[in-house]
Amino acid sequence: MMNVSRRHFVAAGAAALGAAFLMEDGRAAVAAGRFSQYDKQARGILAQMSLAEKIGQMTQPDKNYLKNPDDVANYSLGSVLSGGDSDPKSGNDLISWTDMYDGYQERALHSRLHIPLVYGVDAVHGHNNVIGAVIFPHNIGLGCARNPELVEKAARITSEEVRATGINWAFAPCVAVPQDIRWGRTYEGFSQDPDIVKTLGVAAVKGLQRASLDDPLAVLACSKHYIADGGTKWGSGKTGLDQGDAEVDETTLRRIFLPGYTATIAAGVGSIMPSYSTWNGVRCSASKKLLTDLLKNELGFEGFLISDYGALNQLPGTYKQQIQTSINAGMDMVMVPDKYVEFIDLLRELATEGSVPVSRIDDAVLRILRVKIAMGLMDRKRSPLADRSLHRTFGSPEHRAVARDCVRQSLVLLKNEGNLLPLSKSAGRIHVSGKTADNMGNQCGGWTIFWQGKTGEPTIGTTILTAIRSAIGSGMKVTFSEDGSNAMGAKIGIAVIGEKPYAEMFGDRSELRLDNEDVGVIARMKSQGLRVVVVLVSGRPLVIDEILPHADAVVAAWLPGSEGDGVADVLFGANKPTGKLSFSWPKGASTSFHIGDSGYRTLFNPGYGLAYS
Ligand code: GLC
Repeated sequence: MMNVSRRHFVAAGAAALGAAFLMEDGRAAVAAGRFSQYDKQARGILAQMSLAEKIGQMTQPDKNYLKNPDDVANYSLGSVLSGGDSDPKSGNDLISWTDMYDGYQERALHSRLHIPLVYGVDAVHGHNNVIGAVIFPHNIGLGCARNPELVEKAARITSEEVRATGINWAFAPCVAVPQDIRWGRTYEGFSQDPDIVKTLGVAAVKGLQRASLDDPLAVLACSKHYIADGGTKWGSGKTGLDQGDAEVDETTLRRIFLPGYTATIAAGVGSIMPSYSTWNGVRCSASKKLLTDLLKNELGFEGFLISDYGALNQLPGTYKQQIQTSINAGMDMVMVPDKYVEFIDLLRELATEGSVPVSRIDDAVLRILRVKIAMGLMDRKRSPLADRSLHRTFGSPEHRAVARDCVRQSLVLLKNEGNLLPLSKSAGRIHVSGKTADNMGNQCGGWTIFWQGKTGEPTIGTTILTAIRSAIGSGMKVTFSEDGSNAMGAKIGIAVIGEKPYAEMFGDRSELRLDNEDVGVIARMKSQGLRVVVVLVSGRPLVIDEILPHADAVVAAWLPGSEGDGVADVLFGANKPTGKLSFSWPKGASTSFHIGDSGYRTLFNPGYGLAYS
């Protein structure tokens, strides 16, 4: 579905929800109801469990903090995660990840009740921890493509590549609705528009969880970060915005930040991750109103809640009080991630002394067991170990072709003076420049092999320079210099500029102008008489006032991932640009970048995007 009007787009979103539908205020008219169907079987397992085993199911350490891998069985752990940079000791390759997962899962099968693990990773734009995986555009680019079918297709490939390592839980999709692009997690959001977020969030859940969670290629999805993680006020977070405070009334909360959850719950998402941030000063992980009253009781969420990484430590009081507050508020599983033995001991104390009712423990464990049953993990006829036959298609050309199409459809043409684009394939010499022209790490952004990403070559793929070189005709010549020097004689320059990788709080920025190096590259090429195409590779709109008068064409490429060919496809006209902005684009004169603030001045509005004439 391409280039659709907003009305059709939203209608497609409602259709994508399947049987469940949304009432005008966004509440699911038909609760998910996907997991209570497993109540009987789950209660049968629960009845056999000791208090220690129940608490073990609620415990998720990071594998880096496991004192002994056998603790998986010793404590009947329900889950293990690999957070950012928590990789196999033997390396970030496919075999090492698969061996690592199987090692922990085998130990889980040695627990008294043989309950398998759900193993969680941040597969947020492909199986991005593993070298050789296809790296898709981050959500901000997919939001500009506005194509739910394509998002679902990308998520299906992601789930297949995640399952190739055996892993069965992705902490995705992020259904944040970023309202201030100074936030370091803007690129994890599809859009500032809740309708786009809702529709693409559902598509991602359907792709990851497939038609049925017990599909051997499905992974458990996780809508995050609940709620209003993207609505915080500048200055309320330690680094500016991240993990700060969303100061909004309940009507605004429901209108802007809730639809992504209502819709993905209706689509059957099995887990939801509460946000580090606060709503009107209350930590989401401590809010019974948010976790139990709204999510579980009103919206009928029947999966389980997983805390964010060490989020309980941010709550007031001692560790014991933090655990008590969050579990009683409705948290079901805790991403500890380090002090898991202490967590288990303290929660057992709380349950024994009655500070946490055993009924709350039972409800949490029932939710976790129901999801595991839905995933087929409790089916003794099936092995939870990796299916290594999937290694055959891991990072395959077919998978890369879909990612390349995502790149094409995510690009937004912002300027095209004199119809410079599409470039002719016989235009003599093209000079390519910029820090990101030949830099896979910049092209992929954060959450790629490394938590913060890494400039350079962290993984396998096609850089934009390589793509340009393979796109040109035989009569053409491509030269390259990162700083734009030695361009004299070429007619056309392509400057690939933007941001270096970052993630979370490390991406909060108080101002959004281009760095001097990038401005210099464009000036240098212009001074040598070239017409210049600017390709902006960034995790958000940036202030481009300074270069706009000098650039002949400007393309927003976001964080395209491993398949740079998709950029060349559009630059040379193999494909036309169809992307439409899913965020407004700021003017440099803005004194604020928060949507709705009087000081926010827009250069382009959401929905903007030129076509080739
Ligand atoms: C991080 C992020 C969250 C991620 C989790 C596990 O801090 O907030 O998005 O899923 O920890 O890595």
